[in-house]
Amino acid sequence: MSRSITRTLGAVAVAAAMTVSLAACAGKKAPAGSADAGGQHKLVFGFSQVGAESGWRSANTKSIQDAAKAAGFELKFSDAQQKQENQIAAIRSFIQQKVDVIGFSPVVTTGWDTVLKEAKTAGIPVILTDRAVDTQDKTLYKTFIGSDFVKEGTSAGQWLVDTEKSATGPVNIAELEGTTGSAPAIDRKKGFEDVVLKDPKFKIIADQTGDFTRAKGKEVMEAFLKAHKDINVLFAHNDDMAVGAIQAIEEAGLKPGKDIKIVSIDGIKDAFQAMADGKIEEVVECNPLIGPQIMDLVQKIHDKQDVPDRVLSKEGVFSKDQAAAELPNRQY
Ligand code: AHR
Repeated sequence: MSRSITRTLGAVAVAAAMTVSLAACAGKKAPAGSADAGGQHKLVFGFSQVGAESGWRSANTKSIQDAAKAAGFELKFSDAQQKQENQIAAIRSFIQQKVDVIGFSPVVTTGWDTVLKEAKTAGIPVILTDRAVDTQDKTLYKTFIGSDFVKEGTSAGQWLVDTEKSATGPVNIAELEGTTGSAPAIDRKKGFEDVVLKDPKFKIIADQTGDFTRAKGKEVMEAFLKAHKDINVLFAHNDDMAVGAIQAIEEAGLKPGKDIKIVSIDGIKDAFQAMADGKIEEVVECNPLIGPQIMDLVQKIHDKQDVPDRVLSKEGVFSKDQAAAELPNRQY
């Protein structure tokens, strides 16, 4: 090959390499957010939280904020106030801001495909925390970290079956459900009823949503008590509703824990106090302190490392006799 042909080919190769790298630069999104002290781009994590409906949720928010800070991420946090449209708007805003990773705890299970496809098209990975979505396309998110809500419902149901094993007559149950259409409300109901309704002596005579809040739990329990004089057991899908219901039961002149046995889910301090006071019989733990695990997954996803499709949080079950000893250890 002549020297001039070699020179020409070399120039073409350099020009081609420059074209490729310029194209790569043009295709690369401008990073959102700030830089750390060393001038490095900080990983930007956009997180859309359900709301502030319960003690569990407040603890979950704090865990996420603290863990993002400890990880050195810039957290863009948005509170959806229990409204799906707010979460969709927040996710769209994160996409516009070109955050590195999006996380959200979906208010309800359905209706997410469109916005998740928008994130995927923008090349922004999504992580689901606490609650699942109902979609056929599992490529729309990278992983889901949270509790096994069906198992929580099953544990609550199994406690009732064991407690009432010698009862012959009807055991009348009132059920305070979580937010309609949310994963924990759907799954806890299923888990509980699968165990309990095998025996026809158990009857669910009242069943309504209390939206996971203390105020609504009280209000709905007041209505239950007016409509039914024969409630033996309350199954509350979360502790805040149980605590609200306790107020309603006491104001109706009844004794929680004696006239009406209560089982609930979460493990907040107020529920442990109520257990220690003999007002709640059993609490199934649901762990909100998953911030550090979330940040670990965010970093791995950002670094394009493999992550499991499903990460389960660890939790226990506590009964009345353990409450006083366990109370000082509760972190939320
Ligand atoms: O998704 C978890 C549930 O949501 C918690 O049990 C409840 O307290 C919260 O609002």
